[in-house]
Amino acid sequence: MKKIIFATGNEDKMKEIRMILSDLEIPVYSMREAGVSIEIEETGKTFQENAIIKAQAVKKEADRLVALDPIAFDICSNAVVLADDSGLEIDYLNKEPGVYSARYLGENTPYEIKNRTILQRLAGVQGEDRSARFVCAIAAAFGDRTVCVKETMEGRIAEEPKGENGFGYDPIFYLPEYGCTSAQLAPEEKNACSHRGKALRAIRKSIAAVL
Ligand code: IMP
Repeated sequence: MKKIIFATGNEDKMKEIRMILSDLEIPVYSMREAGVSIEIEETGKTFQENAIIKAQAVKKEADRLVALDPIAFDICSNAVVLADDSGLEIDYLNKEPGVYSARYLGENTPYEIKNRTILQRLAGVQGEDRSARFVCAIAAAFGDRTVCVKETMEGRIAEEPKGENGFGYDPIFYLPEYGCTSAQLAPEEKNACSHRGKALRAIRKSIAAVL
């Protein structure tokens, strides 16, 4: 039977991913559930490069575990490994924080502080000059192949944080066509229009033959 291992340690992302892939009749395991515990350095300069680095590193480790551990064998043999790299690009800040979104102001800095800092950096910037996008690249590694897709969700940096849903930068990401931030959307609404939702649906199409 086919299985998917999703190469992330981010539980918020994992929740969204499971919801978006819930109609696939294939088990979706996190890295931890698959017994893969490796540190991956995100040395890429683009979202696509980082997604490919993560997918290939986890695939290599999953293949190694198959030979070593009978429990890992059940999950890791024949698995399709998916990995995403995502982040926020703010045009006024020359596309910062971009691929450094998770590391912006330090990996462990609370998002209230990261978000407040961004709002301060954009003080006095009006309307369309606050344009921004969430970007998500997803790579799939299977057999000896890797494919990658990239999608975006366009919006603006809000004037103030709003909403309790989502995670990370969602409270300051305003979607003009919805009139609210992505943290004010219900999870299904966000998945329907988000960078991650679109990228997962695109990768599913491009690897349909192996799922
Ligand atoms: P990654 O794990 O290196 O891909 O880090 C992605 C980072 O981008 C996350 O930790 C968040 O800071 C940000 N990010 C990506 N997608 C979203 C989203 O859907 N909402 C809010 N923040 C996001």
